[in-house]
Amino acid sequence: MRLSSFAYLCSWKRQIYKTKLTLDSAMKNILVIGSTGQIGSELTNELRKIYGSANVVAGYIPGAEPKGELAEGGPAAVADVTDGAQLAKIVQEHKIDTIYNLAALLSVVAEQKPRLAWRIGIDGLWNVLEVARENNCAVFTPSSIGSFGPTTPHELTPQDTIQRPRTIYGVSKVTTELLSDYYFLKYGTDTRSVRFPGLISYVTPPGGGTTDYAVDIFYAAVRNEVFECPIAKGTRMDMMYMPDGLRAAIELMEADPSRLIHRNSFNVTAMSFPPEKIYKEINKRCPDFKMIYKVDPLKQSIAESWPDSLDDSAARDEWGWRPQFGLGAMTRDMLEKLSKKLLGA
Ligand code: SER
Repeated sequence: MRLSSFAYLCSWKRQIYKTKLTLDSAMKNILVIGSTGQIGSELTNELRKIYGSANVVAGYIPGAEPKGELAEGGPAAVADVTDGAQLAKIVQEHKIDTIYNLAALLSVVAEQKPRLAWRIGIDGLWNVLEVARENNCAVFTPSSIGSFGPTTPHELTPQDTIQRPRTIYGVSKVTTELLSDYYFLKYGTDTRSVRFPGLISYVTPPGGGTTDYAVDIFYAAVRNEVFECPIAKGTRMDMMYMPDGLRAAIELMEADPSRLIHRNSFNVTAMSFPPEKIYKEINKRCPDFKMIYKVDPLKQSIAESWPDSLDDSAARDEWGWRPQFGLGAMTRDMLEKLSKKLLGA
């Protein structure tokens, strides 16, 4: 009885929260740059549910066109982050007031293409911020656990601490944070962001990241293949299930600005584990599933330079951040959804 009253209360709280978001956000017109990527493909659909399908433009680059629900669910436009004039045209045509800028190369692939990583991450960000300044848009550009480096305190990494990464991905994320804060302080552009940990999802696979193993392991488990883990035993990294990641971005953009002491960028986390711990969790439900270690030296050196666990108390205090999925709940949901997707069961 007590539990069901509690569940009832929670469902009402969720309803009030959704209604509040809808009312607060009734007037938003949003552009998602990188709408077909790992985060964008889910964020765009989520934003359309909250703000209305017609008010969220799915920006994409040729060769990565939206498909299915994303293509049918609302307007789309070619939005190449390296083309400032093109971005300005879309912003003016669709009267955009909020930009989610998700264009980026992930950490491992960026090491192979550092110039391109910079062109997309920083030259691209410059274009986005200029368009935002001229057209009075709010901007969300994610940072990452990759913005930390080997000299950062690794245990409960503080919100404000040493950021001297040695990957081009990290260098571009620290620059993203600084440039976004610069536009806020100098021009009043409403820039906000979170430092995402590894994001785990069954919808669009990541590509070329250090934390990808925590997604790939689920595909191997569902297909009943032996998983070759590229990260060594004992190497902990922060992770988050995608529904929490989407909420983090949207709730921060809806947060009361007068409460924000920080802007770019907030530590957020939901869990932290080494490979053997997620393997054990999956193993509880897939007892025949096997994992062996085949450590990738580049991925391993990047992973070792990142935090073991983040302190996200600033996000909790300043805009009420709370994750909803821990390792157990995420594993259950991932296995169920991925089995349906891959096996139809
Ligand atoms: N998921 C990213 C990567 O592994 C980190 O933010 O590159």
